[in-house]
Amino acid sequence: MAEFIRRCQLCRRWLLLVIALLPGAALRVAADAPATAPRAIPNADVPPFGSLSAETDGQKLYETICQGCHMPDARGAKGAGMYPALAANPKLGSAAYPEYIVLNGLRAMPDIGRHLTDAQVAAVVNYLITHFGNNAAEAATAADVAALRANPPLR
Ligand code: HEC
Repeated sequence: MAEFIRRCQLCRRWLLLVIALLPGAALRVAADAPATAPRAIPNADVPPFGSLSAETDGQKLYETICQGCHMPDARGAKGAGMYPALAANPKLGSAAYPEYIVLNGLRAMPDIGRHLTDAQVAAVVNYLITHFGNNAAEAATAADVAALRANPPLR
């Protein structure tokens, strides 16, 4: 066999090629192998949802997350950026709009809801739309937030 390979230049080249390609082929087979467990569908009540804060109270969530930009009195701020007033804001007469903004963000506002549970988003929105001169007729619910998260409307 050794004699044959030494004689046969072409065979030797093929043999080297096969040896060179073997590790790659082995890796490809490993990559194609099905994962042992199917990927779990994220549950809205476990991290990363909820990883931003353990707080469940709407007011505390507002104070720890939102007021840094929208100010403690929710009157917003202008300076290095523009942070709209959430106080007496006519767009906060329903729950869906603020739920959507908290989940998806809006230009300079990050999509904070990505790191909150459905219940936390509902709690902070409820606080917002019933305080600071806002008087929403309806309440935000975790179920509405979950539906919005699963099926965001088109931008
Ligand atoms: C990092 C700063 C920042 C944080 C934190 C933040 N926001 Fe905002 N938010 C903004 C900015 C900036 C806008 C305006 C975006 C635009 O119109 O360009 C905005 C817009 C909004 C709007 C829309 C207002 C309107 O008149 O259309 C709502 C509602 C809102 N934020 C609610 C919240 C809530 C509730 C929280 C806390 C969970 C929060 N924001 C946290 C920066 C922030």
